[in-house]
Amino acid sequence: MNCTKCKTKAVIDLPRHNAAFCKGCFNGFVHDQVARAIKSEWMFGKDERILVAVSGGKDSLALWNILLTLGYRADGLYVDLGIGAYSEQSHTKVTKFAEAVAASHGATLHLHTVEQEAGAGIKELAQLIHRPTCSTCGTIKRYQFNRVAIEQQYDVMATGHNLDDEAARLLGNVLHWQEEYLDKQGPSLPASVAGFAKKVKPLYRLSERELAAYAVLNRIDYIVEECPMAKGSKMLQYKEVLNRLETESPGTKQTFYWGFLEKQKKKQPTATTMTEKDRAVLHPCASCSQPTTAEVCSYCKMMARAKTVIPR
Ligand code: AMP
Ligand code: FES
Ligand code: ZN
Repeated sequence: MNCTKCKTKAVIDLPRHNAAFCKGCFNGFVHDQVARAIKSEWMFGKDERILVAVSGGKDSLALWNILLTLGYRADGLYVDLGIGAYSEQSHTKVTKFAEAVAASHGATLHLHTVEQEAGAGIKELAQLIHRPTCSTCGTIKRYQFNRVAIEQQYDVMATGHNLDDEAARLLGNVLHWQEEYLDKQGPSLPASVAGFAKKVKPLYRLSERELAAYAVLNRIDYIVEECPMAKGSKMLQYKEVLNRLETESPGTKQTFYWGFLEKQKKKQPTATTMTEKDRAVLHPCASCSQPTTAEVCSYCKMMARAKTVIPR
């Protein structure tokens, strides 16, 4: 198998693009897909400051690496969830990358530790306040990503969601006809109201397999294990189903998610409509001032509840 571009020995085949690449041309392909995502969705420019949420997994570390390589001003944020060995290992991977690679580009790493603020790690906290672990985790991560981006005055906040993540989420939203979520499934969400950071997903054109290959080929040391709390989750089930379809018909995930984005674009001028909708329902939380639809935001409610049940 030879590289479609330069005809030397290929290291990876990409059935959905009917192509194969050597390491150099594959890196070029990955960088090009990210550059196209940034440009076509108006994500950010070279003079803007980006905050990348890095979990220690392949996607977010690859994203940080790609943005720095392409010459963007990107710092990292790691949220330590306090999930035993899993969090310890992912923390180590992020710190190592920050010291070995990001620092040489002048980039820094921010750290938020859930246990310090809540008095317990995610698992224990969720049990004590009687909420599912993954939704507790989601609320905390979303809140902290936005808080750090706003407080540290970043222009935009980026996550490592890839094509597989977005296609699986779309499948879940369609299966349950969650139309309000469909509206927010784009790869670029505007800073619709004061206190909300702009949020982008520059990896939405790349699959999980492509990002794993990119990380391995570029010697990015990442945590291979999934979060132990995610075992058996609906998201993993949707990914499995889509992978089976992809094997039979390469390009299925891309057609599904990119097709959805095309339809969304035709349906509404996203940024304006979303801003109007958000402005109509959001106002500052009475406790922390982050935008919320309720009197007090769900994060502040959670922390207030944690204070009553976790002795300090
Ligand atoms: P997940 O929801 O675990 O699939 O992660 C999606 C994206 O959220 C990752 O690619 C990261 O950008 C970000 N992320 C997830 N967990 C963390 C974490 N503990 N700290 C910082 N960013 C995270
Ligand atoms: Fe949040 Fe696993 S990453 S519970
Ligand atoms: Zn609040």
